[in-house]
Amino acid sequence: MSLQPHGGVLVDVYNPEVTAHEIDQVIEIDAMALSDLELIGIGAYSPLTGFLTQADYESVVSSMRLADGTVWSIPITLPVSRETAASLKTGEKAKLQYGGEMYGLIEIEDLYEPDKTNEAINVYGTADLAHPGVKKLHEREDIYAGGKITLIKRPDKPFKEYTFDPSETRAIFKSKEWKTVVGFQTRNPVHRAHEYIQKAALETVDGLFLNPLVGETKSDDISAEIRMESYEVLLKNYYPEERVELGVFPAAMRYAGPREAIFHALVRKNYGCTHFIVGRDHAGVGDYYGTYDAQKIFDQFEEAELGIKPMKFDHSFYCSKCESMATTKTCPHDSADHVILSGTKVRQMLRNGEVPPSTFSRPEVIEVLISGLKKEVVS
Ligand code: ADX
Repeated sequence: MSLQPHGGVLVDVYNPEVTAHEIDQVIEIDAMALSDLELIGIGAYSPLTGFLTQADYESVVSSMRLADGTVWSIPITLPVSRETAASLKTGEKAKLQYGGEMYGLIEIEDLYEPDKTNEAINVYGTADLAHPGVKKLHEREDIYAGGKITLIKRPDKPFKEYTFDPSETRAIFKSKEWKTVVGFQTRNPVHRAHEYIQKAALETVDGLFLNPLVGETKSDDISAEIRMESYEVLLKNYYPEERVELGVFPAAMRYAGPREAIFHALVRKNYGCTHFIVGRDHAGVGDYYGTYDAQKIFDQFEEAELGIKPMKFDHSFYCSKCESMATTKTCPHDSADHVILSGTKVRQMLRNGEVPPSTFSRPEVIEVLISGLKKEVVS
């Protein structure tokens, strides 16, 4: 597999030297748009060089491709209020501000009103407002601004020592002489099933890029600080240091299941991965998606047009008869012998003061989770 970025060129539209004194149009952006602005700027969303214009947006929503045919599954949009939209001129630049501070510029190519219900049904597979991604979609402003951006200022974020741009992770993988690298996305504290599928993948590739998402998540997900700590103790105690790289993914979670799995894979390709792990109900929430929908969606594309290989794993569990992690592909025993716990269930157990069994999570990880949650309750 090649380490080509998506679309062939790693986008770089970050330029801290650019000044914007002469520009008087201003758009106040939300936290999600700020993280997207940065990710476009550093090339994580290559080949995107800006927020989607109407033609690209409609094409992505209806057919998971940009207008030029390149595969792209999640609309990356810049919502602005109707009032702001009425004051903006297309063909001109506007400052992109968050909390009154400027982070970049957009050359406004077009302003358009999306059909949000259609977007929800196509991207999230449902129009249900109880779905956190659909809820967020409707909470955001009603008009989208499309056009190329320049990232001028990087948002100040935690986890500096684990923050790498795609050009940096590519250089790291190269210096380690990894020819094949598997990317792993997660928004949950690490459990034995994660470890099992990561290590199963690591048996066949050169390196593992552990890339937990640390952007906006729904409020009942465990905080990124605690999750990162859980990764640190796990890596320190159970992984060969020279075969793993830990780096954060500062995007917002969309909970778009299958479509988000494609998006997650393409972005990891930009970070330099050749393979991407897709387990059960990847990026799912509630019962909106089938257990393996996020794996099946990869069959809709040619391998070459994705340029990154999905590594698909069945639902894994601890089997007390096998005395190891397994899936129904490798374990002949009855489901009564299986410890099946999800990230959601462990969150509930911890919040109820229950200690998840060591068959679910390593004791070092449980310790981090318990003390982290205590701190959360206190603060
Ligand atoms: S996600 O929303 O970021 O996908 P999560 O952190 O739970 O959520 O999952 C990270 C990755 O591990 C996903 O690819 C998911 O499919 C996979 N995964 C999580 N739990 C299991 C499990 N028990 N068996 C197999 N794959 C799993």
